[in-house]
Amino acid sequence: MQKSTLRFVITSALAATISGISQGAERPRKIEVLGHRGARASRPENTMPAFRFAIDAGADTLELDVQMTKDGYLIVAHDRTVPTALCQSMDGRKLATGRAIRELTLAEIRDLDCGSLKNEDFPNQVPAPKTTMPKLEDVLELVSSHQGLAKSQIKLQIEAKGVPRYTTAADSPDVLAGAIIAAAKKYQLIDRIVIQSFDHRVIAAAKKINPRIKTAALLAPNLPDWVSVLKSSGASIISPHLDWVTKEAVDAAHKYGAKVVPYTANHEADWKFLITCGVDGIITDDPQALIKYLADKSG
Ligand code: G3P
Ligand code: CA
Repeated sequence: MQKSTLRFVITSALAATISGISQGAERPRKIEVLGHRGARASRPENTMPAFRFAIDAGADTLELDVQMTKDGYLIVAHDRTVPTALCQSMDGRKLATGRAIRELTLAEIRDLDCGSLKNEDFPNQVPAPKTTMPKLEDVLELVSSHQGLAKSQIKLQIEAKGVPRYTTAADSPDVLAGAIIAAAKKYQLIDRIVIQSFDHRVIAAAKKINPRIKTAALLAPNLPDWVSVLKSSGASIISPHLDWVTKEAVDAAHKYGAKVVPYTANHEADWKFLITCGVDGIITDDPQALIKYLADKSG
């Protein structure tokens, strides 16, 4: 076949494809898949094995929680205190009490094994012995250096776990937001992070530092007026508990120009419900299963 003829065939095929799309073969809506604490259903939460698992499974975004150590490092951990049910000493001893993370140094954190004890809520979770709580920078490094197919798509939804009652100058909303932004900047990932928090002062602090930073307002279960929260917080994403999602609320948020990304949905019935309501993304402990569900649905 001559070059010009070949070009015509390709062009025609492309045109047919394009016209097929525009004439109504409706493109399936892309639902963002956010791996909660990495992939808690499959690997110990908020650990590097969990983040690697989520990336390999094809998650769009890694959700993770950060706290400040005594010596000023952002580490990835959900609870204010070390969870004794999930962490033990590196030599396998049970921890008597969970000390506050902000009272521990990075070296002391690094002496905790948070990968050996299985979370019984997740029967398919595979332990990752001798795994420590990572620094936020470890996860940023992983994402920035990842060479897989989804490289350009992996994003981070970073939750600042400030607790107003226990806030000090060392982990104030300004300090937390500033440290997250500085770390993301170091790895040139500013455009791929969202800062989220239940403490909406963190969102204001982040916007003050960089008005372009994307932010998500997390909502406790009983706060239904999303648009008011979006207005007062300045966030462009609202993240409600899944049980408080309604189609009307999603429509109102969309009309306001915001995205809706609920937490934490782990079952097909919930995914189906949320998709019917029109959400933009789903935070799940089981990104692998959600990705399969979405693929089966569109295929
Ligand atoms: O991303 C939202 C979700 O992570 C909030 O709940 O308690 O798991 O951090 P939590
Ligand atoms: Ca979280």
